Amino acid sequence: MIETLTIPVNGDKEATYAALLPQIEAVISGTDDLIANLANVAAILKQAFNFHWVGFYRVVRPETLVLGPFQGPLACVEIPFAKGVCGKAAADQKTLIVPNVDNFPGHIACSSLSKSEIVVPLVDRGKTALVLDVDSDKLADFDATDARHLEQVVCLIKLQNFADQSRPR
Ligand code: SME
Repeated sequence: MIETLTIPVNGDKEATYAALLPQIEAVISGTDDLIANLANVAAILKQAFNFHWVGFYRVVRPETLVLGPFQGPLACVEIPFAKGVCGKAAADQKTLIVPNVDNFPGHIACSSLSKSEIVVPLVDRGKTALVLDVDSDKLADFDATDARHLEQVVCLIKLQNFADQSRPR
């Protein structure tokens, strides 16, 4: 188990993600406990990028997201699929980038400092199982580079924690 992250000094976003992915894979391969892995992934992304808020919402009841492990300020606990950026990404099963949250109808403002947001769903056997939500205090802070790499992060979690189709969840 890695205990110290190696983050490129003055690396651009691409280089930082590239350095992080194998470390994330190494860390989460140590356990099949989903909560432990979500907690460590949130911590790694926070430490590497100092995002304003980074964490997970899990689908624990039909069409309802419930707050999971995160790093950052307090966050709302429940989000129905019909609401917010998280709910829309969960319902559409597609990564959603919102450059200016004030222009997104129904955005749920957990923190007034959040300006832009990206949400990446994990879809398991046709159903959204959880979403990775990242908020920035800068406008338009997320682009296709973030989408591609955060989708890879979610894919690593899926392979580690959702690959065994016979395991009940
Ligand atoms: N802004 C999100 C809610 C979750 S917080 O950002 C942590 C949304 O609109 O779904």
